[in-house]
Amino acid sequence: MAIPREFIDRLSQSVDIVELIGGYVTLKRAGSQYKGLCPFHSEKTPSFTVYPDSRSYYCFGCQSGGDAITFVRNIERLDYVEAVKKLATIAGMEVPEDGAFDGMTQVRRRIREANREAARFFYRQLYTPAGKDALGYFRSRGLDDKTITHFGLGWAPDGWTAMTDHLRGLGFREDELIRANLSRRSRNGGIIDVFRNRVMFPIIDLQGSVIAFGGRTMEKDHGGRKYINTGETEVYTKGHNLYGLNWAKNARSDTIVVTEGYMDVIAMWQAGFENVVASQGTAFTEEQARLLSRYAQRVILSQDGDRAGQEAIRKSIPVLRAVINDVRVLNIPENLDPDEYIKKYGPERMKRLIEGSRSELEYRLDQIRANYDVLSDDGKVKYLREVCQVLAGLSPLERDVYAARIASDLGTDKSAIIAQIAAGSKRRRAQEQRQQLRELQESISTRKEKVNPVRRDKPRGTMAEETLIYILYHNPEKAGLIRDKMPPEKMLSDFCRRLYAALLDIIQTGEAPSIAQFGQMSGPDALVLTPEEMGQAARIINAVGVTGGSGSEADIDRCVRIIEEESSRPAGDAASTATAEDLQAYLQSLNRRKD
Ligand code: CTP
Ligand code: MN
Repeated sequence: MAIPREFIDRLSQSVDIVELIGGYVTLKRAGSQYKGLCPFHSEKTPSFTVYPDSRSYYCFGCQSGGDAITFVRNIERLDYVEAVKKLATIAGMEVPEDGAFDGMTQVRRRIREANREAARFFYRQLYTPAGKDALGYFRSRGLDDKTITHFGLGWAPDGWTAMTDHLRGLGFREDELIRANLSRRSRNGGIIDVFRNRVMFPIIDLQGSVIAFGGRTMEKDHGGRKYINTGETEVYTKGHNLYGLNWAKNARSDTIVVTEGYMDVIAMWQAGFENVVASQGTAFTEEQARLLSRYAQRVILSQDGDRAGQEAIRKSIPVLRAVINDVRVLNIPENLDPDEYIKKYGPERMKRLIEGSRSELEYRLDQIRANYDVLSDDGKVKYLREVCQVLAGLSPLERDVYAARIASDLGTDKSAIIAQIAAGSKRRRAQEQRQQLRELQESISTRKEKVNPVRRDKPRGTMAEETLIYILYHNPEKAGLIRDKMPPEKMLSDFCRRLYAALLDIIQTGEAPSIAQFGQMSGPDALVLTPEEMGQAARIINAVGVTGGSGSEADIDRCVRIIEEESSRPAGDAASTATAEDLQAYLQSLNRRKD
C-alpha cells in the first residue's frame, strides 16, 4: 500500500522536528541548529544535530539520520507505516485509509493480538478449578488479587495444546502462533504449547501491547529451568526491553530502580514502589540504558548480592553512566533480592534502604578498596594508584572531596593524591585525543560504508556525486542544467544514482524536494530508502562531509569533471582516493558542524 506523497508532505510540515526529538533528547540551540547527546549510541559530547531548516537530523558519531519519520522508526523501533501512523496521531491527522499495512506490519499485528489473547487466556485459567494451585502459588508468594490483575499474571495449563487450541479457535493460524513463539512444532509434526504448567508473567511494551511471556515453574526443586521466556520474535528482543517499564514510566518519579526479576518488580509494586523495572537477569544493554534514560534522571541498580549480580552491576555501570548522570547502587543485606527483603523487613525498611543507596562512584571505590590490604604499605600504594585512575575522570570539585575522604581514611596526604591524579589525567587526555583521531580516520575510510561502498573505493568521485546531489537539492531551479551535464546513468555509485534520479523526478513534478519523500514506500520514482540510507541522505543534504556546494556553474562543472575522471579509473587506484585537500576539507566541514 502506498501512502500518498501529498500526505507525507503535509505530515512532515505539521510536525515540529525540534519539538518531536526534544521529547526524547535534551537539545541545545547552536546557531540555526540544535545539538544533543545521540539517543542511538553512547556518547559524552554531543554529535547529534537537528536541522530545523531541512526538517532532518544527523549524528556524526553513528551516522544515523533522516526525517521525523525515520527518527520515530528508529527510536520506537517501528516500521514505516507504524511510524507514519504514530506521527499522524501526534500531529492530529488521520491516516488516509486503514488498509495501510504492509505485509510485515500485518504479521507483527497478528503476533501482538495472539499474545494478548494468550494473556487473557492464561489469566482466566487462574480462577478455574484446574488453576487453583497456580493461584495458590501466587498467594503463597504474598500477592493479592489486585496485584495479579494489575500485572495480568496467569497460568498456562498442564496439557499439551490447551492454549494452542484456544487461539486456533479464535482464528489464529499455526504459523502465526509459531512466529509468536506461543506454540512450537512437536516431534510428531503437530503443534504444542511452549508454556505448560507454569505461572505466567506477560511482558508488555511501551505502547501497551503484550509482546512476550516469562513462565515460572511452581515446583520447589525444579529439575529443569526455573523460568522460560519467549524467544526472539518479530515483536520481541529480550535485550531491548525492560520488564515493567510500561508501568514504571508512569510513576511520578525521576528515579527508576532496576532489579533482576519479575517477582521483584511485582513485590515492590505491591509494597507501593511503582518505579521499578527488571533487567530479567541479563547484563544491561545500551538499548535498555537509552530506554531508561527517557524516563529517569536517576537510576538505582539493585542486583542480587551473589557474584553474578555484582558482576552485572560492574558491567552495567559504564553502560548506564554513558546516558544517565546519577547512577546509584543499592546493596541489600543478607544477599536477599528486593522481593525477599520486603517480605522479611517490610516496605518501610526498603524505603530507607533505597534512600541510603550509594552513588555508583562510592560503590566502585568500595569495590576497589576491598581488593587490597590497605593496612600494608604495598597494598596502600596499589589501592591509591587504582583509585587515582578513577578520580581522574571526575570534576575538580569531586576530586577534591574524594581525595580528602580517601586521605583521611588512609592517613595520607591529600595533596599527594591530587598530584597523582593530575599526572594520570594528562596521560588520559592524550589517550582520548588519540582515540578521537582514530575514530575520525575510521569514519572517513572504512567504517559503515554499507550504504554506499563506492564511497570507500572512490571517495573523491563519491564526494563529487554527493556535492552534486546537495546542489540539486538546494537549487531545484537548476535541475535542467544539472541533468544535461550529468545524466543519472553516468553516476558512479548506485546509492547516489538512485537518490539523484529520484530527486530529478520529484523536481520535475514541480514539487520542492524534501527529505521526507525519500523514505516513501512507493511512488512514481519508486525511491524507498532504508533507515540507514536515510542517514546518508540526511548527511548529504545538510552538507556534512560535502564540499564546495555553492551551486555555481563552476561548482557543477567541477563535480561533473571529477565524476567522469573517476569513472574511467579502476577502484582503489591511488589517485582516486581522496586527496589531502579533500580530506582536509572534509575534516573542516566536520569540525565546523561540531562547534
Ligand atoms: N531468568 C530467566 N531465566 C532463567 C532464570 C532467570 O529469564 N532461567 C530471569 C527472570 O526474569 C528472573 C530473573 O532472571 O526473574 C532473576 O532470576 P532469579 O534471581 O533466579 O529469580 P527471581 O527473580 O528471584 O525469581 P523467584 O523470586 O521467582 O525465584
Ligand atoms: Mn526472587
